[in-house]
Amino acid sequence: MSSIVGEEMPVKNRIGEMSETITEWRRDFHEHPEVMYDVHRTAAIVAKKLKDFGCDEIVEGIGKTGVVGIIKGQSTASSRVIALRADMDALPMTEITGLPYASKIKGAMHACGHDGHTAMLLGAAQYLAETRNFDGTVVLLFQPAEEGGAGGLEMVKDGVMDRWQVDEVYGLHNYPGLPVGEFAIRSGALMASADQFEIEITGKGGHAAEPHQTVDTTLASAQIVVALQSIVSRNVQAIRPAVLSTTSFHTESNTFNVIPQTAYIKGTVRCFDTHTRDLMEHRLNEIVDLTARTYGAKATVKYERGYPPTINHPEQTQFAIEAALAVGTRVNSETDPVMPAEDFSYMLEARPGAYIFLGNGDTAMCHHPEYDFSDEAAPFGASYFVELVEKRLSS
Ligand code: NI
Repeated sequence: MSSIVGEEMPVKNRIGEMSETITEWRRDFHEHPEVMYDVHRTAAIVAKKLKDFGCDEIVEGIGKTGVVGIIKGQSTASSRVIALRADMDALPMTEITGLPYASKIKGAMHACGHDGHTAMLLGAAQYLAETRNFDGTVVLLFQPAEEGGAGGLEMVKDGVMDRWQVDEVYGLHNYPGLPVGEFAIRSGALMASADQFEIEITGKGGHAAEPHQTVDTTLASAQIVVALQSIVSRNVQAIRPAVLSTTSFHTESNTFNVIPQTAYIKGTVRCFDTHTRDLMEHRLNEIVDLTARTYGAKATVKYERGYPPTINHPEQTQFAIEAALAVGTRVNSETDPVMPAEDFSYMLEARPGAYIFLGNGDTAMCHHPEYDFSDEAAPFGASYFVELVEKRLSS
């Protein structure tokens, strides 16, 4: 681990003054979580605030329910454009924090801190619109449906990068377990790709006392579950991290004396590079087909590619480290990558940029029903965005 310690307590003073307001916004979002693309209330508030701050252009309904805000610097002579991204969506789960500002919406909860991400980017937007102490243009991307809906991809497909000629894009995610004020990042793969597979194995059902009259799908399926574990251990190069987890395995028989006609397997595949991803998909198909046939059964595979790996670009990672150092207490510049996935990956496929983790302190993990975003972390995140802009678009 390589960590660099900042010189002093450096949150932007103006952002420090705004921290109570940012907390109010955040807790309001927290009380009113919205899931997937259904972020109408949140998006309307974001758009209204961007208007109040005096943004030069606000476009709603991008990426279905996303919002884009444009802030031009005191000069735009450089023609440089930086995009900053926040996600607005919550999760379909029930909060058990008991906080005074806990979710008022049944079955929805901001359990991943996107309420904090949105509030921090609004804080940065207000500061940047007030000061405009940069040469170029800032594009604020507020996206829906990060949690499984690929809202980031919808924003890219809707042309946000081309329409405003974005040069670089930056995003952040809070990180439970990392102290407040600290940042963690690495060049290259930071988060994994997330693919999923569904397998249907068909044999010949029959009486469990007479297996010789059947093609036993349970046996074939069990062999498939075991054989799939050889992909990571035997086919993928040891220095390339990969995970294959079988998460569901059932047959259509629910009794003691019937060999089922059909069985079903589901699971997920995670890794950090295209070569490994292609290899995993190829071997999975091969193993399922050949193993099923070994036992006289037939198998079909539905393999769906989800979010690609989140890969930080080296040069922009360095800029991110410099900005984080200027506003944070410590930056781990060689943090370990993590296996969850993130749809900011699509934005990093479209433009060079970097994704950074922001310390959330000693809280429950993201997606836990007791999780809460740490309001003390907000000034660091908002200051980071501002510092990036003022550094990268310095006049
Ligand atoms: Ni998240």
